[in-house]
Amino acid sequence: MCGIIGIVGTRPVADRLVESLKRLEYRGYDSAGVAAVVDGKVERRRAQGKIRNLEAVLAEQPLVAQNGIGHVRWATHGAPNVRNAHPQTAGRVTLVHNGIIENFAELKAELIAAGRTFESDTDTEVIAQLIDAELASGLAPLDAFKTTLDRLTGAYALAVLVEGAENLILGARRGSPLVVGEGQGEMFLGSDALAVGPFTNRVIYLDEGDYVALDHSSARIFDAAGNPVTRPVKVVSPSAVMMEKGNYRHFMEKEIHDQPDGCQRTLSAYVDALTARTAIPGDLDLAALERIQIVACGTSYIAGVIGKYLIEQLADLPVDVEIASEFRYRQPALRPGSLVIAMSQSGETADTLAALRYCKARGMKSAVVVNAVESTMAREVDVVWPIHCGVEIGVASTKAFTAQVSVMIALAVGAAKARGRIDAAEEQRLVRVMLEAPRLIAEAIGLEDAIKEIAVEIAKARDVLYLGRGPMSALALEGALKLKEISYIHAEGYAAGELKHGPIALVDDQTPIIILAPYDSWFEKSASNMSEVMARGGQVVFITDPEGAKHAPAGAKVVVTAPACDPLVSTLVMSAPIQLLAYHVAVLKGADVDQPRNLAKSVTVE
Ligand code: AGP
Repeated sequence: MCGIIGIVGTRPVADRLVESLKRLEYRGYDSAGVAAVVDGKVERRRAQGKIRNLEAVLAEQPLVAQNGIGHVRWATHGAPNVRNAHPQTAGRVTLVHNGIIENFAELKAELIAAGRTFESDTDTEVIAQLIDAELASGLAPLDAFKTTLDRLTGAYALAVLVEGAENLILGARRGSPLVVGEGQGEMFLGSDALAVGPFTNRVIYLDEGDYVALDHSSARIFDAAGNPVTRPVKVVSPSAVMMEKGNYRHFMEKEIHDQPDGCQRTLSAYVDALTARTAIPGDLDLAALERIQIVACGTSYIAGVIGKYLIEQLADLPVDVEIASEFRYRQPALRPGSLVIAMSQSGETADTLAALRYCKARGMKSAVVVNAVESTMAREVDVVWPIHCGVEIGVASTKAFTAQVSVMIALAVGAAKARGRIDAAEEQRLVRVMLEAPRLIAEAIGLEDAIKEIAVEIAKARDVLYLGRGPMSALALEGALKLKEISYIHAEGYAAGELKHGPIALVDDQTPIIILAPYDSWFEKSASNMSEVMARGGQVVFITDPEGAKHAPAGAKVVVTAPACDPLVSTLVMSAPIQLLAYHVAVLKGADVDQPRNLAKSVTVE
């Protein structure tokens, strides 16, 4: 996902553009650039790779200006090089873009036929060329901008400079978030509140289709139809404190350690600790629901799978969970009376948003389990279920995952009570179990030294298998995803019962096998699977609890004993060991833990 910043004011802008881009690094990127109006001309500075490369360019060629835009790019169209880095320029127009223009090829062909030449391979340059062509036809900047927006198909968040229009930045959003920041004698444009956070906490969240003309003292906002509109100014919490790593080496490390607090904050919004009753926000009648359809991607999908196990088991309510990028294209058979739940940390993932909109268009009630409560998904659903875990910077999701699972647990218990599957006493017992989870997660994090030792062996592996049964089969998927996405070691998660149907062929004495098996109703079966793989030389890391350690078959390379807990919260407690294992393996391998190669924090492109 790219990041955008724009500043129109009366003070030097270059350093502040770079400061903002550093706050946007968490989104994942492969090039960066800034542009500013210098003596009436727009000048650009761009660099491939990290922002420090852009700073080196600026040190050589400073930009002294008061109006400027900046961008961190995660390449979609065109290789990650300087030529394709933003800002992109065409004639008088220089702009930055987040999103994908789906009809860029036909527009580009039309512009080339009209005699225009292109510098880059990007879809973004087409937008600059179109605006410039409209300016050349005599339109004023705002009209040229609006005319161009009406021709675009796809998603965009834009910040635009026009030569000859000194005190002006144009902005627009469709399918990618964009906010206006109100300053003192200056105005800001950013991908999110964090981007403008160093300069102001007064934020205007643009609506879908809005476009805006900023000068250093005002913001003129228009809706998609071109009508002037007013959007509310919100004072956002200073999330700067959430941006610091404290005494941790990486945001991911900090966020793993933040989980006890995060889980506590999440649960406090879904249960009443005094009465030990669930208190699910939103006026949804959980008793009337006939079915739930969960759509999500990546780690959020895995949190949804855990939700399925718990909601079906406790509430006897059918739940389907599906990868959003598959769901949205397969014409699924939907039924009225169902609820669609989008699971998304960012609330902006393109495939999940599209799947959500697919269900809404067919009359389903909609909810989102989300961290970014001002995100596009949060603004489009009937019910928002925030996860309240604070900003998650590390690309590999950890505290957001356990916060999502916490919401799923609360939902399962709340639905079970609403549907008469449990009585008030059982609800209170389960809520008290939930309220113990933060302490148990903290105890599990206390296994870090043992995990660090295991990481030394895992770091040498070529392939790693994660196995589990029941909800632990989902956690096996998550363990594998964490390891591969930050250490680049190939890893697979499997339902342990599936081993005999093929994957056991992978097992040899070079293959570490991480088996997740608390002493629950699936334990005996998992123990048998453990014996099967050890008989073939598999090197087993057995992650269990004290009772499981007592009953584990002999021969594991190592047994990790997580705290004993009720099965309701075992996925929360067992998450920390697999997250810490992935983290320490990645550190040993010298990987870029917070910004792994090729990844973005939120995938707003399809
Ligand atoms: C998680 O570690 C990954 N970074 C990725 O799978 C992520 O969960 C996925 O892209 C979904 O993002 P979302 O929760 O913001 O929708």
